[in-house]
Amino acid sequence: MEAGQVKLLAMFHVVLFEPEIAGNTGSVARTCMATGAKLHLIRPLGFKLSDDALKRAGMDYWHEVDVSLHASFNTFHELFQDTFNQNRVFSLTTKGHQNHSQPHFQANDVLLFGPESRGLPEVIREQTTQLRIPMTPNARSLNLAVSAAVMVYEAWRQLEFRVD
Ligand SMILES: C[S@@+](CC[C@H](N)C(=O)[O-])C[C@H]1O[C@@H](n2cnc3c(N)ncnc32)[C@H](O)[C@@H]1O
Repeated sequence: MEAGQVKLLAMFHVVLFEPEIAGNTGSVARTCMATGAKLHLIRPLGFKLSDDALKRAGMDYWHEVDVSLHASFNTFHELFQDTFNQNRVFSLTTKGHQNHSQPHFQANDVLLFGPESRGLPEVIREQTTQLRIPMTPNARSLNLAVSAAVMVYEAWRQLEFRVD
């Protein structure tokens, strides 16, 4: 699971930067498994991978999830250098400049999400295309797992729910 030999071809790469809550990561893992996306977790994590909540939220699908762990954002960045250079890294943030449905998504795009309590740091966001899922004015943010599901399904819809 540690990112030594990471498969760079996937429907999408769903990346959780320093996730804090096991149940959310389990839910995102389940969405990835259902859509053919590959899950990447960037350390430090706010929970242990043995956490029951992770397995509970991922249900019995956890063992089928294609997941890689990365020691830091820098090691992830090195591995996906070409994807960053091609501007195919999309960060999901309430500070996004365009709606999440605006880009034309392609297979292998990277969809990057921030931690539950603080979101993505600016220094990371500015290296990416920043997308926002619309909300009513009183809402501050969506739950991490909900925002991942909304984003992955929009991107996959654009690819006509292709299964390779
Ligand atoms: C609970 S939110 C973080 C809230 C944090 N206080 C902030 O302002 O970013 C966790 C993650 O879910 C994603 N997210 C939540 N709501 C979003 C929205 N409306 N648009 C885009 N991403 C969203 C982002 O990746 C965010 O970093």
